[in-house]
Amino acid sequence: MGNKVTTAVFPVAGLGTRFLPATKSVPKEIMTLVDRPLIQYAIDEARAAGITEFIFVTSRGKGALEDYFDLAPNLEEELRRKGKEDMLEVLAKTNMDSGAIAYIRQHKALGLGHAVWCARRLIGDQPFAVILPDDVIAAEKPCLQQMVEAYDETGGNMVAAMEVPAEKTSSYGILDVENNDGKLLDVNGMVEKPAADESPSNLAVIGRYILSPNVLKNLDEMKKGAGGEIQLTDAIAAELEQKNKVYGYRFEGQRFDCGSKSGFLQATVSYGLARAELRDDLAGYIKSIAPTL
Ligand code: UTP
Repeated sequence: MGNKVTTAVFPVAGLGTRFLPATKSVPKEIMTLVDRPLIQYAIDEARAAGITEFIFVTSRGKGALEDYFDLAPNLEEELRRKGKEDMLEVLAKTNMDSGAIAYIRQHKALGLGHAVWCARRLIGDQPFAVILPDDVIAAEKPCLQQMVEAYDETGGNMVAAMEVPAEKTSSYGILDVENNDGKLLDVNGMVEKPAADESPSNLAVIGRYILSPNVLKNLDEMKKGAGGEIQLTDAIAAELEQKNKVYGYRFEGQRFDCGSKSGFLQATVSYGLARAELRDDLAGYIKSIAPTL
């Protein structure tokens, strides 16, 4: 029922203040989980979901991101000369076809909604995905792929949903849902960062979205929301007022908040343990220090 989703927007124009001073010169999305930058996990997930057009909303100081997706002729030549085929294969995943990737600047960090709006001309009049690379999701079937499969049946708008403890609702966009069971949730309303006693549920929106182009029109209004920022949540909630459908999708998988230091460290341990060549060493170390914790 939904049109095919082939475009994804990656808003990476935030300041990343929680990781200062590292993010003074290194974009948050280039920070590394084991041996791959966060952005590579996001790109791999998008590709698995059938995305072929990649739009990055960037800002000053994000040049390392653009370089990351470029060819590295000298390095590749050197690896070839040394017969390091396995490394060449790893590098191939970082390359993009010419014309498949576009960068647009958000000149001021006015909020996630504003960042997505900056990409409106590149997106055009088609449904599109939004991926926040600092939400890393470990899943057997990548999260966006799960959502695209559900969206093919439903159309409308779809946001990834996850239960959070009551005291954490003020850090998320929260869903007001018709039914709180099953994977597909019928959304009646959305609130950005509600206090625990005003929260309509404990179902939080996390960084994967499939949106109708109408959301971009809603963003034209430039309404400031929670924290004085132009919120994507508000533009999606406006869809409900216009009687357009919004679904929550309770994905299968474990999400790590790599925008926070603790989440990033947890992801590092988890992804490290998942790697056969690291597992024994790392598990041995964790076991050795566990009794002292
Ligand atoms: P965050 O709320 O994590 O903000 O943004 P941040 O600036 O990246 O990090 P902190 O809070 O200062 O540590 C969530 C996502 O939205 C993007 C960010 O790049 C991140 O992917 N974003 C946010 C923008 O692209 N532009 C904005 O104006 C705000």
